[in-house]
Amino acid sequence: MPVAIITGITGQDGSYLAENLLSKGYQVVGMVRRSSTVTMERLEKIQDDIIITQGDLHDQSSMVSLLEEFKPDEVYNLAAQSFVPTSWSQPLLTAEVTALGVTRLLEAIRQVNSKIKYYQASSSEMFGKVVDVPQQESTPFYPRSPYGVAKVYGHWITVNYRESFDIFATSGILFNHESPRRGLEFVTRKISNTVAKIKKGTVKELRLGNLEAQRDWGFAGDYVEAMWKMMQHSVPDNFVIGTGETHSVREFCELAFGYVGLNYMDYVVQDPRFYRPAEVDLLISDPTKAKVELGWEASTSFKNLVEMMVESDLQHLSK
Ligand code: NAP
Ligand code: GDD
Repeated sequence: MPVAIITGITGQDGSYLAENLLSKGYQVVGMVRRSSTVTMERLEKIQDDIIITQGDLHDQSSMVSLLEEFKPDEVYNLAAQSFVPTSWSQPLLTAEVTALGVTRLLEAIRQVNSKIKYYQASSSEMFGKVVDVPQQESTPFYPRSPYGVAKVYGHWITVNYRESFDIFATSGILFNHESPRRGLEFVTRKISNTVAKIKKGTVKELRLGNLEAQRDWGFAGDYVEAMWKMMQHSVPDNFVIGTGETHSVREFCELAFGYVGLNYMDYVVQDPRFYRPAEVDLLISDPTKAKVELGWEASTSFKNLVEMMVESDLQHLSK
């Protein structure tokens, strides 16, 4: 039975990846940071099938112990301070976890067993103020937030450990991916959740920032399969993962409100509080390499994604 360690297992992607790997016959070990409140909500259904153990990307010794104890074949590093606005209010914490945390984990692998395969959760946020449209693996980075800068560091240190120490270290450059399990602060879930509340009559408006920002939005459940495929590839590499389509926040609102028979213009209020000091205006992927080399393609349409999220929030509120 192959063993996989997932950091960030309590997050959106961690929960989908854990389910995916369990279905493939892996023993799944999740690293969670110590907290006074348990944050296992997304793992409820599979809690008895996985091993949860404590560790923190701040603390290298915890990762060394983890690797020594569980002897994984594969490590998926999904843990990060992942919310872009927080990276301006907590830039040093973001750098510690999202950037240096990657080196700590790679160092732990180098020390314990350099044959362990490593997956780095890199991000389209690295393309920032894009210099090419669409963005592919060779597109230069121009990050626009401390989070984006930290992810660029994480990406390059992954490449560097691959080239310096011959570690199977792969970097998945994933474009935005969403789901009913998305954190409530991200724009898609903020919209789907508020639309459901407006429909139920408990909330009257939705306050948002920049409605014109465009993103390449896919479904997280599809994207974790791409992570696994990258780890089974013959060589470690960098892969762009996305749908190849882009849509604005405004379009997301239009579809989400439309799904419950409402017009978004009657409810959306633009609020300067949600604008960013520097914006990423347009992201759109060219996922050709993933299709050709991994045989991976996104399979959930934008419309289906929006409807899935609103429907799930409606059902959640009904309960
Ligand atoms: P998420 O829901 O915010 O989950 C982040 C995870 O990291 C949580 O499990 C969190 O644990 C954990 N974490 C945070 N700080 C930690 C620390 N110091 N030590 C150990 N664990 C820590 O993020 P996601 O959307 O699933 O994304 C997964 C990864 O992919 C992240 O690295 C993100 O930056 C990257 N990414 C995401 C997207 C996307 O669109 N979703 C796109 C590109 C890249 P708690 O539960 O304790 O907070
Ligand atoms: N969060 C949020 N809240 N975003 C808003 C709002 C709002 O009220 N109003 C407009 N937006 C716009 C943001 O300005 C941004 O342009 C866009 O909606 C998407 O914001 P988020 O959903 O917060 O995601 P993100 O693109 O900044 O970052 C996500 O995707 C990255 C990949 O490109 C995160 O998951 C990152 O961790 C990930 O790396």
